[in-house]
Amino acid sequence: MKLPWLGACLLCLPLLAACGPGSSASPAVAPAADAAEFVARHWARPLPPQGPAPAHFTPAATSLAPTACAGCHPRQFADWGSAPHSRAMGPGLLGQLQEMGADAVEDHQACLECHAPLAEQAADLRRALAAANPAGFAPDVAGADHRDGLTCAGCHVRQRRTFGPPRADGSLPAPGTDLPHDGWIATPAFADSRFCAACHQFDASGPALNGKPLENTYEEWRASRHAREGRHCQSCHMPERRHLWRGIHDADMVRSGLAIAASEPAARDGVVAAELSIANVGVGHAFPTYVTPRVVVEIGQADRAGKPLAATVERHLIARDVSLDLATEHADTRLLPDESRRYAYRRPRDARAAALVFRIVVAPDDFYARFYRASLRDPDVRKGRAALREALRRAEASSYVLFESRRPLAGGGLSASRVASGEESR
Ligand code: HEC
Ligand code: HEC
Ligand code: HEC
Ligand code: HEC
Ligand code: HEC
Repeated sequence: MKLPWLGACLLCLPLLAACGPGSSASPAVAPAADAAEFVARHWARPLPPQGPAPAHFTPAATSLAPTACAGCHPRQFADWGSAPHSRAMGPGLLGQLQEMGADAVEDHQACLECHAPLAEQAADLRRALAAANPAGFAPDVAGADHRDGLTCAGCHVRQRRTFGPPRADGSLPAPGTDLPHDGWIATPAFADSRFCAACHQFDASGPALNGKPLENTYEEWRASRHAREGRHCQSCHMPERRHLWRGIHDADMVRSGLAIAASEPAARDGVVAAELSIANVGVGHAFPTYVTPRVVVEIGQADRAGKPLAATVERHLIARDVSLDLATEHADTRLLPDESRRYAYRRPRDARAAALVFRIVVAPDDFYARFYRASLRDPDVRKGRAALREALRRAEASSYVLFESRRPLAGGGLSASRVASGEESR
């Protein structure tokens, strides 16, 4: 993805930065250096403060608030507002920051570098934590509200300069065009997985268990067919450059990456036998990639009313199951890219059984829920209590049924109108 004219321009960034506002040497679109080098500099944290805006910038171009970009980039703003990056300062994080207190700025930074990376947001957070009445706190005047999480400027603006991909059609603005925010510095690094790895991959010195970093998404991707075929994180998570970033919390996104099939159950000689298969056909890394979600496969018999017959239900975990103190990995049963698995079921038939039910349940925030419950049991946790209670409520509410199929068992005393729940029989 490296464009030929980039290699020659490793030095243009520092030069451009030295140019004053309105300088004729500051083109509307300037190429940046090679992707690895660009990403290392762009995401060297803590990010430095933006500094004063050039005098000719309009108020809209001066503000760091996503709402300021919205006036000219409404589509990106609408997508971002519906996406997890805009919610990266949720109550689970805020509760923990409240516990740290206003002056623990280095501790804040250990979280903000991924969750709200602008220096101006760190200052805003500190003021909010120190405020006597946090509810009445007025956010930063320059528009860097810590509650906005990972903002447009967090990914696109450094030292008041805007960075982005080249135009989608490869064209360039006509020379001398006067663009808002002095145009942008174009780099293909924005379409490269390394741009995302800055926050979605721990480096070799980060926390690891059984030889695998706790956040290993980029390396999982790099070892996959998707990397070989040139499909980057953005190809799946930002289709047509849309700012969606759907992941484990979105049932349709998860379904798009899996092939799931339930066999017709055989009920013979008092035994019920069947099989469920799951294949990771389109997730660009392990399913799921993090230690936080818990996916449970359930196969079991149900009575005529559809009620599960508890003693007949089998459960299988798909997760990287780690202890709450992150000291032990109990199991790693995730599905790597292109891996498939079969879950066979074979059990005596319960006399009341009328159907066999296959279910896959996803709890995207299982680890966090366990963590919040433990924190709330700790009497030393005080300032963050209300936020952590809200975070627990949200984490529990995020679970959903990914797949459900209810198959009648022959001789189950079922009439043609089976107790099916909307699932077609084959
Ligand atoms: C007054 C209108 C205006 C405001 C406000 C504005 N932009 Fe822009 N932006 C533009 C225009 C016009 C372009 C040039 C588009 C082109 O010529 O293809 C542009 C280009 C960009 C690009 C490069 C697009 C590409 O094709 O790669 C990025 C990234 C960008 N803006 C981000 C932002 C962010 C982030 C903010 C808020 C901090 C912002 N803009 C605020 C008008 C605006
Ligand atoms: C997590 C980092 C991130 C955040 C947050 C983010 N962007 Fe982007 N943006 C990107 C990446 C990466 C691309 C390029 C995607 C590609 O090339 O496939 C991009 C592309 C763009 C483009 C060019 C779009 C096009 O169709 O050519 C514009 C304009 C833009 N972003 C504006 C914004 C605005 C406005 C916001 C906030 C509402 C925002 N971005 C938030 C990472 C981000
Ligand atoms: C500055 C750090 C940062 C960068 C850069 C970044 N992300 Fe994220 N991303 C986060 C954080 C923090 C969250 C969690 C938000 C929250 O609190 O729920 C997240 C969440 C996500 C999720 C949703 C996860 C879920 O649980 O459903 C996806 C998908 C995602 N990011 C993809 C990307 C992609 C693709 C890129 C590159 C274009 C990218 N991210 C760049 C920090 C980042
Ligand atoms: C290297 C980047 C990175 C750092 C540093 C980081 N996080 Fe996260 N965090 C993420 C990503 C990515 C996710 C989303 C993945 C997921 O859902 O598990 C996330 C999700 C979370 C969530 C659950 C989603 C939510 O918003 O409620 C909490 C809580 C959280 N982080 C707290 C913290 C705290 C506290 C710190 C600092 C001690 C921290 N994080 C540091 C990247 C980071
Ligand atoms: C081939 C498509 C594809 C590619 C490439 C891809 N992903 Fe995903 N990603 C998915 C799908 C589908 C899901 C939903 C299933 C899941 O959660 O594992 C997902 C989920 C996620 C999640 C949610 C958290 C979790 O535990 O699963 C994050 C974060 C994420 N991807 C980040 C990335 C990053 C970063 C890259 C690049 C290094 C990347 N993805 C590359 C398809 C892709």
